[in-house]
Amino acid sequence: MSTFDVINPATAEPIATLSRASVDEVDAAVARAVSAQRTWAALPPLARADALRAFARVVEDHVEELAALEVRNSGHPISSARWEAGHVAQVLNYYSGAPERLLGAQIPVPGGLDVTFHEPYGVVGVIVPWNFPMTIASWAFAPALAAGNAVVLKPAELTPLTAVRLGELALEAGLPEGLFQVIVGSGSVVGQRFVSHPDVRKVVFTGSTEVGVEVAAGCARALKPVTLELGGKSANVVFADADLEAAAAAVPGSVFDNAGQDCCARSRLLVQRSVYDRFLELLEPAVAAWRVGDPWREDTEMGPLISAAHRDTVAGFLDGADVAFRGAAPAGDAAGSGFWFAPAVVLAAPGDRIAQEEVFGPVLAVLPFDDEDDAIRLANDTVYGLAGSLWTRDLGRAVRVSRGVRSGVLSVNSHSSVRYWTPFGGMKASGLGRELGPDAAEHFTETKNVFYATT
Ligand code: TAP
Repeated sequence: MSTFDVINPATAEPIATLSRASVDEVDAAVARAVSAQRTWAALPPLARADALRAFARVVEDHVEELAALEVRNSGHPISSARWEAGHVAQVLNYYSGAPERLLGAQIPVPGGLDVTFHEPYGVVGVIVPWNFPMTIASWAFAPALAAGNAVVLKPAELTPLTAVRLGELALEAGLPEGLFQVIVGSGSVVGQRFVSHPDVRKVVFTGSTEVGVEVAAGCARALKPVTLELGGKSANVVFADADLEAAAAAVPGSVFDNAGQDCCARSRLLVQRSVYDRFLELLEPAVAAWRVGDPWREDTEMGPLISAAHRDTVAGFLDGADVAFRGAAPAGDAAGSGFWFAPAVVLAAPGDRIAQEEVFGPVLAVLPFDDEDDAIRLANDTVYGLAGSLWTRDLGRAVRVSRGVRSGVLSVNSHSSVRYWTPFGGMKASGLGRELGPDAAEHFTETKNVFYATT
């Protein structure tokens, strides 16, 4: 049996040893899921709703425990980790309303009655990355379960601990055995088996664009629907008429949150040329004040990167780059052996690697623009299209630019991307399909149309 160590990225110390599932073990789990799903889908909608509400309550009761696990496994600051665990409970609560609201249509036809039903797929395979292990998983498993499916969930090998605990909490809450199973193992074995297994009828993949394309190709061969949430290189566009102080104060959170390991990170800052110098003057103290350090401290805003290898990759982006200024990070004894990296602000030109590729670390590329058309052109000058922000006091401009930028999730005078009430997902190389929002449970169903002859 193959095992691996789970590492605390703030200390570089091992905190657990887990076994990797084999293909046979995945197949056995899928067989259990098939059987559990039949019973689950046959329950009255109220019973499924009650079960999900119970799951949400148990997660709520374990927010502190889940948050502490995430601090140790992912290095997230404790305040962020608490938010993430609470968010899982809220997502479960929100979709516990779905079983009783999966409304079909009654379509007027001659000679009978025509009705549509939302039928669950059966077993849904969910593959998640290491950057937000709990929250991203919940965006798929909560609506999938609500729609009457069973779920097999594969966490990233780097960060499996909170997912494993959520699997246990589901059982404690009374969810049937086999309905929601967390399967630890490598992407090339467990993830691939979700793609190829004939009884896994839909796959939700969150991760890199490169692997996402392979997953989509495999799903195409099996004629299996797939939702993809992939990379990003989102723009934060600041117009000269904006509240520059508020915009500058918001920049560190928009790109350095979770150490920049966020698919929605606004990793390109586009500033109108007439206020470019002034804006950088405002930004420098905001970056200096961004608190990087011990994830257990309540006031810490950023922890370490996830691994030594990832830190090397991020550092590589600064080779030859025009670094304007940097924030702080623990050094010497305070750093221990953790994977720390001080936030960096880089002056860039549109074709530069730093302006095009996803860094997935606390590195911001700053570029000037001239006018509204130039801003839209630059914001769209990327293969990605996930998120973005724009800062302006001109309502007409806010409408024009937000319609002109090819991204799935935009915010004006704010940098929020994730609200479970609203749809989330990317355009272009950032993905296919949408998660969250009022329609997510329906995305885990197939429409069946039935005509009842009355004559
Ligand atoms: P990936 O290397 O793509 O890994 C994502 C998940 O896929 C992991 O669980 C991984 O397993 C698994 N996997 C790897 N190879 C696979 C294969 N051949 N078949 C099936 N599954 C496979 O990404 P990452 O490094 O974890 O995450 C960083 C990337 O995810 C960034 O590009 C980021 O933008 C993107 N991301 C996007 C979003 C959204 S919502 N759009 C959210 C978070 C992250 P193992 O690693 O355990 O082997």
